[in-house]
Amino acid sequence: MRPGFAQALAALVAFAAFAALAVPTAGLGAENSPFANKDTHYCLNCHAADPSGFAPPRYAPPKIVGQNAAYLIAALNDYRDGRRNHYLMQSPAETIARDTIAEVAEYLSKLDGTGLPEYPTAEPDLELAARGAELAGHLCVECHHADPARNKDAVPILNGQHPSYLTAAIRDYRLGVRRNKRMGDAVVGLSQEEVRAIVAYYAQLDGLYPWTGPRATP
Ligand code: HEC
Ligand code: HEC
Repeated sequence: MRPGFAQALAALVAFAAFAALAVPTAGLGAENSPFANKDTHYCLNCHAADPSGFAPPRYAPPKIVGQNAAYLIAALNDYRDGRRNHYLMQSPAETIARDTIAEVAEYLSKLDGTGLPEYPTAEPDLELAARGAELAGHLCVECHHADPARNKDAVPILNGQHPSYLTAAIRDYRLGVRRNKRMGDAVVGLSQEEVRAIVAYYAQLDGLYPWTGPRATP
């Protein structure tokens, strides 16, 4: 079997496994749901999946609804052009025609959680998050501001992102698996404990969808 084909087959099998990860959409039939959109309906099988199904070392696929459009465009182009690699994202990125990437990104960035499932979580560790806020204040908010409107162009919003994904992304920059000069420099000196604190800080901020905030106290 040619390696290219074997790889494509592996991706397809993995994709089918993910697609079977039924995201509960019944009763959520809002017309403007991304599940009903011709370009994005299958993206959300992964990108709105229940994060509790991903135990480390696996991580939940990142939330992309409400993400900064310029960043979505950059990320999709990076997958398409092989600057960023992941066996599950290669084929989805290639299915979006290059001239519709901006449109899809713009659409996803403007959505809120309407039509998406919600995954309530336990109360965040506020002490850890407060320590993270202090560290992020020195090291991260210059680019990843808590008010995303103050971020510059293609900087991703981290607010409310899945903790397992944030941790994995930081690890990937540290290992050089994901290459970005500014990010590599920003995280190279962090201890594991500092990463845990910063992740706890960003994850408990309100932001990206699907919603994964703390359960209301009974
Ligand atoms: C089979 C599951 C799956 C499907 C379907 C899928 N993705 Fe992804 N996507 C992932 C995973 C896993 C990642 C994280 C990969 C990594 O660590 O680089 C990702 C990453 C991304 C990112 C980067 C996000 C970030 O914060 O860096 C974007 C943008 C994205 N996907 C958009 C899409 C779009 C648009 C579609 C539909 C056309 C789609 N994806 C379909 C699994 C999927
Ligand atoms: C000088 C600007 C800058 C600083 C400072 C910075 N970042 Fe970033 N960060 C970026 C850019 C730009 C990207 C997108 C890079 C890419 O495309 O891979 C990014 C990407 C990320 C991602 C990946 C998000 C995703 O959706 O895939 C994480 C996580 C992250 N940064 C965390 C941090 C943390 C934690 C700090 C502080 C310790 C930090 N960053 C400091 C500019 C910065």
